[in-house]
This record gives sequence, C-alpha cells and structure tokens, in this order.
Amino acid sequence: MVGMESFIPVITIDGPSASGKGTIAQCVAKALDFHYLDSGALYRLVALQALRDGVDVANVDALVKIAGNLNVDFQGEQIFLDNALVTGKIRAEECGIMASKLAVYPQLRESLIKRQRDFCREPGLVTDGRDMGSVVFPGALLKVFLTASVDVRAQRRYNQLIEKGMSANITDLQRDIQLRDERDANRGIAPLQQNKDARLLDTTSLSILQAQNKVLKWYEECCANKWV
Ligand code: DC
Repeated sequence: MVGMESFIPVITIDGPSASGKGTIAQCVAKALDFHYLDSGALYRLVALQALRDGVDVANVDALVKIAGNLNVDFQGEQIFLDNALVTGKIRAEECGIMASKLAVYPQLRESLIKRQRDFCREPGLVTDGRDMGSVVFPGALLKVFLTASVDVRAQRRYNQLIEKGMSANITDLQRDIQLRDERDANRGIAPLQQNKDARLLDTTSLSILQAQNKVLKWYEECCANKWV
C-alpha cells in the first residue's frame, strides 16, 4: 500500500491540537472533491471505547486490542462506532486528552496505519493529524505543517465547544493545549514536528478562506512541478 500515494494525490496537513487543520483539510478536500481523513478521530475513537470500557491508559494490551477491533464507519462528516453516532462525543476534551496519552504506544499506532492508508483512493486524499506526512503518507504530493499561537488555538477550541453546547473554560483550554503539545511533541514515536519537506502555514492571523487558498495554491504548484 505504501507507494499508492505516489499515483493518487495526497495532501497531508499535520499540526498541533486546535490549529484549525481539520477545518482547513475539510475545506481543501471539498474544493478538490477529494476524500478526507481525520486521523485524530481514530485515536479519539480508541479513547472513547477505552473510557467506556473502563480500560486504564497504562493497559497497552487492552488498548491495542480496542484499536484492532474498532467497528467504525465514516459517513461524510458523521462517525459511527458500533453503529451509534459518536461525532460529537469524540470531540469532548476528555477524549482528546485520553487520545493524546494512548497515542504514545507504538503498537497502537501501528495497528491504526492500515485503516488510515485505506482512505487513499481516487481521485485523491486530504488528511490531517500529527504524522500523516512523516509516517502514514511519506510519499504525499504536498505536506503542510499548520500551526497558530496557543491563545488563538484555545479561543478557537472554546468557540467550537460552546457552539456544540458543551461547557468550556478558556484558561483550562490553554493549559490543556500546552500540555497536549508537549506530550505530542516529546513522545518517542511519530512526534509532532515540522518535517523538512513540509511547508509551514501559520494561521494565527489568517481566515479559513485565506488558509484554504494558500494550500490550494501550493497544491497547484506541486502538481505543475510533478508533471514538468
Ligand atoms: O487532532 P486531534 O486533536 O483530534 O488528535 C487527538 C490526539 O490524537 C492528539 O492529541 C494526538 C493523537 N494523534 C496522533 O498521535 N496522531 C495523529 N495522526 C492524530 C492524532
């Protein structure tokens, strides 16, 4: 399966929590009529199942088993776990924090790789996460590292949660985002980092449309360079 991405165009958008990568990746996928993979959702789904089953975050074997047996169905923007809609539930901070903790286990990451590569289908794929360009789709046509300041990210996450009718506290969110950044960046495997072949996009003072257009422009450049 590695190598498939050299025939099917893949755009990877990696970056820290709440940087807006999900929003931008979805907009770019829509604009190009490409498939979209939210890789963080897979980690969040494992976290949700583990929380429901009362599995401790230190119980690696049980977590790997959950990851291997996930009965998940992505239908457009809706995500189903065991046929029940969980799109909103996996967005809870509790799931995000648990996801970040279990994402440090190499066996667990390994067991999610094939599921992620299966999203690579004609006419193309836009995917967001932490290791999309470095590990899962190393042959991607365009790799973007998307970031924004902690304050702006906390504010965006706050707005998202409030919009969904969930409770939120901006100071707690800033602290959680910082802790999550540290954990994601300092883990031994597939850490969050800008790779040499990824283009940096800082969206602190960019609108969604500006960020989307920048990625689309880079994509056009990459396509032009590929065929000359
Ligand atoms: O992108 P997100 O906030 O939905 O991701 C939740 C957690 O999942 C994140 O803190 C780390 C982990 N994750 C990962 O390790 N690798 C990915 N490709 C995507 C997410």
